[in-house]
Amino acid sequence: MDGSGRVRWGIVGTANIARGQFLPALRQAGGVAAAVAGRDAARTAQYAWDNDIERAITGYAGLIDDPAIDALYIALPNALHAEWTIRALEAGKPVLCEKPLCGRLADTESVLAVAEETGTLLWEAFVFPFQPQMQEVRKLLADEAIGELMEIKSNFHFLLRNPANIRLSRELEGGALLDVGCYPVRLAQELFGPDYQAAWAHAVMGGDGVDIDTWGVLDYAGGRRLMFSCGLGRSYDTFTTLEGTAGQIRITNPFHPGAADSYQLATPGANDVTFSAQAGERSFTAAIRHIQAAIDGKEAPRQLAVETSLPTARALADLAASFRRG
Ligand SMILES: NC(=O)c1ccc[n+]([C@@H]2O[C@H](COP(=O)([O-])OP(=O)(O)OC[C@H]3O[C@@H](n4cnc5c(N)ncnc54)[C@H](OP(=O)(O)O)[C@@H]3O)[C@@H](O)[C@H]2O)c1
Repeated sequence: MDGSGRVRWGIVGTANIARGQFLPALRQAGGVAAAVAGRDAARTAQYAWDNDIERAITGYAGLIDDPAIDALYIALPNALHAEWTIRALEAGKPVLCEKPLCGRLADTESVLAVAEETGTLLWEAFVFPFQPQMQEVRKLLADEAIGELMEIKSNFHFLLRNPANIRLSRELEGGALLDVGCYPVRLAQELFGPDYQAAWAHAVMGGDGVDIDTWGVLDYAGGRRLMFSCGLGRSYDTFTTLEGTAGQIRITNPFHPGAADSYQLATPGANDVTFSAQAGERSFTAAIRHIQAAIDGKEAPRQLAVETSLPTARALADLAASFRRG
């Protein structure tokens, strides 16, 4: 912690997500952007300057081992998450690793084993469960505002224009399912629990051998199901419907709500009721605030990777195996 008791964060990788989302949220949450590490000295120094980060370090290992860093944000391509998260956990540094925790199930299992062995705190950067919107939706469900939840229909699409993007690389473990399909999968896990019964998916392939337009189903007991659609080839769409026995909740963006987003309760015979997503803060802010409080011992850690990441990784592996079988 710095002299004011603030968590000093190190950012692993000069990533777009760190620039666009993590750093503005970190400042809202009262953390310190203490250092960034990148592979190239000049690029890393420029990134630190542009983004008001105190220090630039060449090479990820130097940042991980730096005694003046309290927590690490790993924002590397998916294929590199396991190696650098394991090194950070072994160094005893709490980690927020970008989603998905790993692109491959075996790597997820290895990372979680190290988190268990070391007892070092690890979170996978699904930030939506920390946000007020998701807590309010959960309350509507608990109050049976739509009866019993039977089906989740959830989209996550956006238009990827850059052919060199990491998401189109098989080697870096890109693809639509791992990049954005993981969100509906995690949402279903949040609302239906970890145990699905069957997984089916189909995909259009592109890039250098990744899925770029993917849709599928996760079946849960009692006929409950997630039906999802995700991809890298059409305009931004996160529209999600929760279908219950007595009504619907329609959410414009369950994952990263902005100021224009809302959710709506629709029940037969009553006027629809629309609620603001209450996105006064950045999408990552509530999660970072919690992580800092947990590191400081002021809150019991919630949503740890050791509790949440394995069912997501299993579902992603089963869905990918399904679309690869064709
Ligand atoms: N939670 C969310 O809302 C969210 C949103 C977007 C992305 N993400 C996740 O964040 C991670 C990074 O995504 P991004 O879009 O920010 O990626 P990006 O801008 O391409 O950044 C990735 C960084 O990784 C480093 N890197 C190391 N080896 C690399 C390689 N072989 N090729 C390319 N870069 C390499 C690079 O930094 P240096 O060269 O400086 O080391 C690069 O700047 C992914 O896991 C993604 O799924 C999460």
